[in-house]
Amino acid sequence: LTKDRYPQVKRGSFSKLEQTHLQFFRDLLGSNRVITDEDECQSFNIDWIKNVRGFSQCILKPKSTEEVSKILAFCNNNRIAVCPQGGNTGLVGGSVPVFDEVVLWTGQMNKIINLDETSGVLVCQAGCILENLETFVGDSGLMIPLDLGAKGSCHIGGNVSTNAGGLRLVRYGNLHGSILGIEAVKADGEIIDCLSTLKKDNTGYHLKHLFIGSEGTLGIVTKVAIHCPSKPNAINVAFLGLKSFDDVLKTMKQAKQQLGEILSSCELIDEASLGLATGHLQLKCPLGVYPFYMLIETHGSNNEHDEEKMNTFLESIMADGLVEDGTTTNEVSKMNNIWALRERITEGSTHEGYIFKYDISLPTENFYSLVPIMKERMGESAKVVCGYGHIGDGNIHLQVIVNEFTQDALNKIEPFIYEYTSKLKGSVSAEHGVGFRKPKYIHYSKSPEAIALMKELKTMMDPNGILNPYKVLPS
Ligand code: FAD
Ligand code: MLT
Ligand code: ZN
Repeated sequence: LTKDRYPQVKRGSFSKLEQTHLQFFRDLLGSNRVITDEDECQSFNIDWIKNVRGFSQCILKPKSTEEVSKILAFCNNNRIAVCPQGGNTGLVGGSVPVFDEVVLWTGQMNKIINLDETSGVLVCQAGCILENLETFVGDSGLMIPLDLGAKGSCHIGGNVSTNAGGLRLVRYGNLHGSILGIEAVKADGEIIDCLSTLKKDNTGYHLKHLFIGSEGTLGIVTKVAIHCPSKPNAINVAFLGLKSFDDVLKTMKQAKQQLGEILSSCELIDEASLGLATGHLQLKCPLGVYPFYMLIETHGSNNEHDEEKMNTFLESIMADGLVEDGTTTNEVSKMNNIWALRERITEGSTHEGYIFKYDISLPTENFYSLVPIMKERMGESAKVVCGYGHIGDGNIHLQVIVNEFTQDALNKIEPFIYEYTSKLKGSVSAEHGVGFRKPKYIHYSKSPEAIALMKELKTMMDPNGILNPYKVLPS
């Protein structure tokens, strides 16, 4: 059980699972919600991009907050380590066990509790799949203020626990703003009810923020209240081909100025990233080959006004010679085809080889600077070095793809990328989190004092360290 898969990480002094432990779980949940079959456990042990693999031999599938509470109280008393897991689409290895931690999977906590159509507040359990929530509130003319390529699998509890950013943060902000309330269970099983549905509530410390983005290390999120804005009546998408990054920056500036209040997305795709989607997934690009592509989307209430604004914007960037070619549409199927080129890069990449994935914030003018540097640095050893992402938010996803993992390749990339990011005062994790992949690099973005305070918080909320050990904080 203590195989040395990660030689630099030592298994904590947690109990090994015994029959009496399993019997407790079976008595609580029933046998069919306690999975111990090795084959069935497999998919819960490997992360989405196959970077991290654990060997948990027990998956628990609670349905209610009370069951989560009883599981955690028992695990805490018996020093059993627990790895919370939602849709297992996380990209930093936070959602899978490292050793033999018990996996607490939220997939059966998938009830919608209430939707107030007037205030737009949705209350639901943490295991609801994002896309299902989107469909549900959509029927009432509302939308979830978060959208991402993993929407068909990720859970809202996982989204909250990673503070997922996604494709429309530029318009709808991040989850610290949209999440109105949270119910969570602490490591000792105590239920913390902060499930407010109010827009304004300044009574005491804002505890919900501790759970947003803490990646399952401070508690298990069991319910959320989320503010859902009205669905836009008008959606327009422009897809542009550009010849230089300088032109990308100028185009983005104009988009922000001219589309202002209706701009809902501003994304960048470089030529190599597009190739991963078109090459492996047979997606068709409506434009020719350019070094850069931008996907610009608007959400508004009046199509006539929005189309006019979009056309004026396009005319002005064309007149300034910033774009080489472009297409604009408000037809749903065409918009979906264009969005697939952006959203499915992650999926296309998995067909290319082993992915070293980086998710960094950089000052806008330096947004793309690491890609050519890494290309040069990797030389022939990389199959692909590419960059894409949320340029409107200053968040690039840089990927180095190789035939298979080698320590040599890793040494060429890390810590170089993090040092570079830190020198430019960027963030080594813009939206994916720290997980298992990055605890030893957190100091590139946070001061020693800030890390020390995080450790104090962790000790206070989870004194036995049972919740998602080996993740987020350096040992
Ligand atoms: P998991 O992967 O299961 O877990 C993620 C972390 O949260 C883990 O540390 C886990 O322990 C913890 N956790 C999960 N549920 C709970 C809970 N109920 N309580 C406490 N802790 C919990 N991320 C972005 O930010 N923006 C994107 O645009 C984006 N696009 C993506 C596209 C694709 C194709 C893929 C595969 C991933 C993408 N991601 C993106 C990353 C990922 O989808 C998000 O991090 C997502 O929020 C994770 O949700 P999940 O339910 O899959 O969580
Ligand atoms: C995205 O923006 O597509 C996601 O964060 C996933 C990724 O980085 O590939
Ligand atoms: Zn992203």
